[in-house]
Amino acid sequence: MQEVIRSQLKPEIQVFTNPETLTQAAADEFVRQAERAIQARGRFTIALSGGSTPKSLYALLATQPWRKRIPWNQIHFFWGDERHVPPSDPSSNFQMTQERLLFQVPIPQQNVHRIKAENPDAKAAAAEYEQDLRQFFQLGENQFPRFDLVLLGMGSNGHTASLFPGTDAVREQSRLVVASWIEELNSDRITLTPPVFNNAACVIFFVAGAEKATMLKTVLEGQYQPNLLPVQIIRPTQGKVVWMVDRAAASSLSTAISSTPS
Ligand code: 6PG
Repeated sequence: MQEVIRSQLKPEIQVFTNPETLTQAAADEFVRQAERAIQARGRFTIALSGGSTPKSLYALLATQPWRKRIPWNQIHFFWGDERHVPPSDPSSNFQMTQERLLFQVPIPQQNVHRIKAENPDAKAAAAEYEQDLRQFFQLGENQFPRFDLVLLGMGSNGHTASLFPGTDAVREQSRLVVASWIEELNSDRITLTPPVFNNAACVIFFVAGAEKATMLKTVLEGQYQPNLLPVQIIRPTQGKVVWMVDRAAASSLSTAISSTPS
């Protein structure tokens, strides 16, 4: 049963019984948005999330019926962030996606726009990715790419992509991509910035598991404090936000649940 909760922050919250139904619904939404974008503009641009939650989604998209419904040669994959490691590293978001999806489907190589995080200079890797975005989206000065879809996760500390609490990246307003030293991880990350995320046509937060429940409640029902809870900075100016979560992650939300016919 799909239930829809309207939180006071106005984003749509869809609650699914378990990770399986959540993942199937996210795969359906991916296909719907891809078909719509391709029909309207001949291509579908998406910035993918890293982390572990989306692994099942990427794997599912490579299987039927979703696989055959997706025109892979008209999809362009980007990443919302990347760890500062080579693409072969097991902690690489690109590697995770490649294993589960890119190796499994007929997507042309030129449609895969990875962050070249093997560059020992994280700032240079960020600058190179920014140039790739500017070229692909044919951006002028002070323009930001408009992704058809951005898929994001949420860490239990309130970070999203590699926008971590207390980092300058959360307050970045002009660059498209920055390198950010993450003290608690003792490593650099490369991440898209809030103005890029907030220029998207649609942002889907894909969150599952009881360990996210407290933070989800804090983010959606608590004070607006993006420096502490960077996920709150994601509020597209001309786009929608949909939280697609499982019941375990939603278990602390106090908003009344209004169910809609599944
Ligand atoms: C990353 C992601 C990160 C992730 C959250 C949630 O590079 O790890 O971009 O923002 O979405 O940390 O991660 P899980 O899905 O593993 O809980």
